[in-house]
Amino acid sequence: IHATDDVSAPVAFAIPDNVFAETVTEVRHYTDRLFRFRITRPTSFRFRSGEFVMIGLPNAEKPVYRAYSIASPSWDEEIEFFSIKVENGPLTEHLQKIKRGDTVLLRKKSTGTLVLDALLPGKRLYMLSTGTGVAPFASLIRDPETYEKFEEVILIQTCRDIAELKYITEMVEGIKDDPLIGEFAADSLRLYTTTTREPFTHMGRITDLMQSGKLFSDLGLPPLDPETDRGMICGSMHMIHDTKAILESFGLVEGANNKPATYVVERAFVG
Ligand code: A2P
Repeated sequence: IHATDDVSAPVAFAIPDNVFAETVTEVRHYTDRLFRFRITRPTSFRFRSGEFVMIGLPNAEKPVYRAYSIASPSWDEEIEFFSIKVENGPLTEHLQKIKRGDTVLLRKKSTGTLVLDALLPGKRLYMLSTGTGVAPFASLIRDPETYEKFEEVILIQTCRDIAELKYITEMVEGIKDDPLIGEFAADSLRLYTTTTREPFTHMGRITDLMQSGKLFSDLGLPPLDPETDRGMICGSMHMIHDTKAILESFGLVEGANNKPATYVVERAFVG
């Protein structure tokens, strides 16, 4: 048997011990740059909401793996991902063509710092994202533990245009009716979305809106306070660099799994 470029081709090699071969259950394209997909979840696969995992396709003898934040919560029966499409991206150029029934490879070990355990207790949790950086937060806002730990959860996503905001906007609208987390989320979760390249209710980069104070006045909240506020950042390298500087200017300190503090960071998957 020969491996081919066809993503729907049967697996042409033995699946290694540290990898699960799972089936695509749903694919939805939002724009020519963004799509989400869901796969079956092996019963033995455990992760903490907010973590990432390495995924690949069985289209080559040596599959290319890339880090992907898991966008579904840890209680979900399936696993969801929110992905960018990169024309010559070694994985995404193929991944963007997947269909229901195709196979996706999933390494068995998940990891990551955008987890509740890496933050000290606080009152308000700010989740700051651009583009596909919203994925780990799509997981965390659907986890009841987030609302057990924080009274208020403020999810922020900046994208180029309105269509790119649809994934999270629809999710947050739907969450209020969810039998498991609807009640928590209705009281605690707020979504603040902005665009940078198309007119919208709120415009501008999240970084600029924090610096000018407009984010806080729009939300009717005081500026960040390290006593009460916690941050999670996920976006491009530049966005992370700029957002970290702002959180630190407010006195927040970067934490890790082995050293919880007042904010945590992870780079969004890029190609
Ligand atoms: P902009 O349109 O001004 O570049 P991308 O799709 O390129 O990853 O970008 C997603 C969003 O992140 C865009 O709205 C983009 O704004 C914004 N962005 C890019 N760089 C930064 C940064 N350093 N800080 C904050 N937002 C950023």
